[in-house]
Amino acid sequence: MEIKGFGVEEWLNENEKSAQFDISQSTISSLTLGELLKFDSQNPTEQITKYLNTKLNYGWIEGSPEFKQLVSELYLRVDSKNVLQTNGATGGNFLALFSLLNPGDQIISLYPSYQQLYDIPKSLGVKVDNWGLREDLNWQPDIEQLKQLISPKTKMICLNNAQNPTGSLLKKPLLKQVVALAREVGAYILADEVYQPVDKVDQFPSIADLYEQGISVNSLSKTYSVPGLRIGWIATQSAKLADVFRKYRDYTMISGGVVNDTLACITLRNQQAILARNKKLVKRNHEILRKWVDSQEKVDIIMPEQVSTACIKLNIKMDDETFCQKLLDDTGVLLVPGNRFDMPGHARVGYCTDTETLKNGLQRLNEFLKQCQ
Ligand SMILES: Cc1ncc(COP(=O)(O)O)c(C=O)c1O
Repeated sequence: MEIKGFGVEEWLNENEKSAQFDISQSTISSLTLGELLKFDSQNPTEQITKYLNTKLNYGWIEGSPEFKQLVSELYLRVDSKNVLQTNGATGGNFLALFSLLNPGDQIISLYPSYQQLYDIPKSLGVKVDNWGLREDLNWQPDIEQLKQLISPKTKMICLNNAQNPTGSLLKKPLLKQVVALAREVGAYILADEVYQPVDKVDQFPSIADLYEQGISVNSLSKTYSVPGLRIGWIATQSAKLADVFRKYRDYTMISGGVVNDTLACITLRNQQAILARNKKLVKRNHEILRKWVDSQEKVDIIMPEQVSTACIKLNIKMDDETFCQKLLDDTGVLLVPGNRFDMPGHARVGYCTDTETLKNGLQRLNEFLKQCQ
């Protein structure tokens, strides 16, 4: 099985530890363990002591009943039985693709988006048609193109909503049209929803709620600020689909681990407080980014929704990869070159880091851009 290198991961693996001002990441500023525990109790030390008697066995295989229940409550139509814990959203995407696709199948994937969604299928011998995101449509795809691409042979449509790296959102009216097209030909829809917005949740229906053959993948890594737990999930209305995932899951993971499951439940139990913290941070940093871009001649942007990833367009002669490498070497500021998402001439800005890092990073980026033609 041949697979292409994962562009963004390769870039980050090589560069993130040497960055002084990391404004490349797509998590809303990560919580410390102490901060997370404080959401749950006034006395985190006492709380840790309570866990000293926890046996470090495998724990609950599919995720604890509390975890499955709390996740199912994020949806309108997903029973807790149809929630399976995964190793992050990465594990959820892999599980869905690996379980449902066979060599010779045909799928359609939003493109560019998260590379897993098209390069895993290709590595499995699947034919992938791209449903293109268009900058001239504010980083939306054109439904007319999907109508042209879809056929009775289409087995799955892969979406990334909100989209990495642009932060654009596929809203309910468009999603309903996609569902209608998929339903006509009996195709599954897999949606990586890891960039669930912190706000305006009514504009963000999960595919598992909209469609009986919809598969929602999400995790605690971005909107909930705890990527280090490595806890995600796959959720669907369909008991039959959940059983297929169960079968394949046994071959790819046993459990998420008792400690991580416990911390995941704490995160989900306290989601309102965590989201309130994150809403403030996203709003503040969104405004800083917008003002910064407004003052730049060499940078354009289609502002993201209230999600933690943004994509700038570089109006310079240097290619984006060389630019980002020189920027890091000379100033310690880290971005992700657009080239790593098949979006040359652009760069990802992870603007939801802590506000001081964002301000420092943008100031140095400003100075560096002055030297570029
Ligand atoms: C669209 C998308 N899906 C999944 C992931 C990985 O999520 P997790 O940490 O839950 O595995 C990322 C991380 O950058 C992402 O951008």
